[in-house]
Amino acid sequence: MTEKKLPFTKEVIEKIIEKYPTPFHIYDEKGIRAYAKRFLKAFSWNEGFKEYFAIKATPNPYLMKILRNEGFGIDCSSIAELELAEKIGMRGEEIMFTSNDTPAIEYQKAVELGAIINLDDIAHIQYLDENVGLPELVCCRYNPGSLKEGNAIIGHPEEAKYGFTRSQLFEGYQLLIDKGVKRFGIHTMVASNELDKDYFAGTAQILFELIADISKKLNISFEFANLGGGIGIPYKPDQIEVNLEKMSERIKTNYDKYILGNGLKPLKLYFESGRAITGPYGYLVSKVLHIKNTYKKYAGLDSCMANLMRPALYGSYHHISVPGKEDVVTKIMYDVTGSLCENNDKFAINRVLPKLASGDIIVIHDTGAHGHSMGFNYNGKLRSAELLLREDGEVVQIRRAETMDDYFATLDFNGVTGFKV
Ligand SMILES: Cc1ncc(COP(=O)(O)O)c(C=O)c1O
Repeated sequence: MTEKKLPFTKEVIEKIIEKYPTPFHIYDEKGIRAYAKRFLKAFSWNEGFKEYFAIKATPNPYLMKILRNEGFGIDCSSIAELELAEKIGMRGEEIMFTSNDTPAIEYQKAVELGAIINLDDIAHIQYLDENVGLPELVCCRYNPGSLKEGNAIIGHPEEAKYGFTRSQLFEGYQLLIDKGVKRFGIHTMVASNELDKDYFAGTAQILFELIADISKKLNISFEFANLGGGIGIPYKPDQIEVNLEKMSERIKTNYDKYILGNGLKPLKLYFESGRAITGPYGYLVSKVLHIKNTYKKYAGLDSCMANLMRPALYGSYHHISVPGKEDVVTKIMYDVTGSLCENNDKFAINRVLPKLASGDIIVIHDTGAHGHSMGFNYNGKLRSAELLLREDGEVVQIRRAETMDDYFATLDFNGVTGFKV
């Protein structure tokens, strides 16, 4: 069981709402820092261990600055994310560039910043070489195909578009050697939101055995193995978080057996987790706008799936708290809805909550990763602000809400005026 607590009281959140109107996402710095420290400590046995925060989860430079301060690197997947890293002074091997279907301009930027390039496909070796030039250090992404099961979010590895096959890796690293690359890394990511700690030890074993095979066959040493992201979080109260310490212990057992046991040089372990780092420490704060009674009871909020897409996209559960109504005895089953003209714009279906009324504050849990970042403007909806609850209780706005001007910024209404029909 996981107790779904809030880092603020009703009184505190009411004060915050007085200054920053709902909806907004608010992140808890204390929670993020504590988890970051715990993560690094769990893997302290591995010299050079690094977690590259998958910035796509929550692309906010304030949060990245906090995580960098804790010792994290950044995992970028696009030129915009590389620029975000650059703007906060990140350079070199504290940046991992794990991209897909990548245009030359993005590789160019990554190489310019000295980022570690993680190639998704064997054809990209030639492409990178011809268009930008190969850096000294290159990483390749492995797709283990039928060796792993994957899951609904990331897909079955054999059907997932990511990575090299096993034989392509042998061929690819040989090509890299022939082209003068001197330093090597390897990466895989085959799970998303996975709560089984043993899953990661299993993935590590597959990767470590592969490293041993490639190292021996091609006579190279790997500097690092990147185990990707995908560590799950207990969205539901009856789920339990991944025990990092136990997970690390099991990965170490495999490391000792397959890396050290095969006489290979010690190598650094990397992760590029997003969800586990910030997910549980973010909350979407909204208000009930309307209560509707038809064939079902609906609580309509002043937010919508533009603010949090996961329930509509994956049918994901997000816990809901109603500050101040914790002890209300009358419970009612609601569909908690957003304002889009889409019937799947529901934060929760058949959720039993205290009897709600217009104006009630609703807090949706676990929105700190893949929450605000997935936002979009369908139906002309605007993305909300992001706030940070600092360790001393201060609240800082770390991204303002979008305005109508932002929404119309890509349109030329003068052009429309002169446009003849
Ligand atoms: C390549 C890669 N790395 C890391 C992540 C972060 O995953 P998570 O937030 O589940 O840890 C993702 C998520 O989409 C990804 O595609």
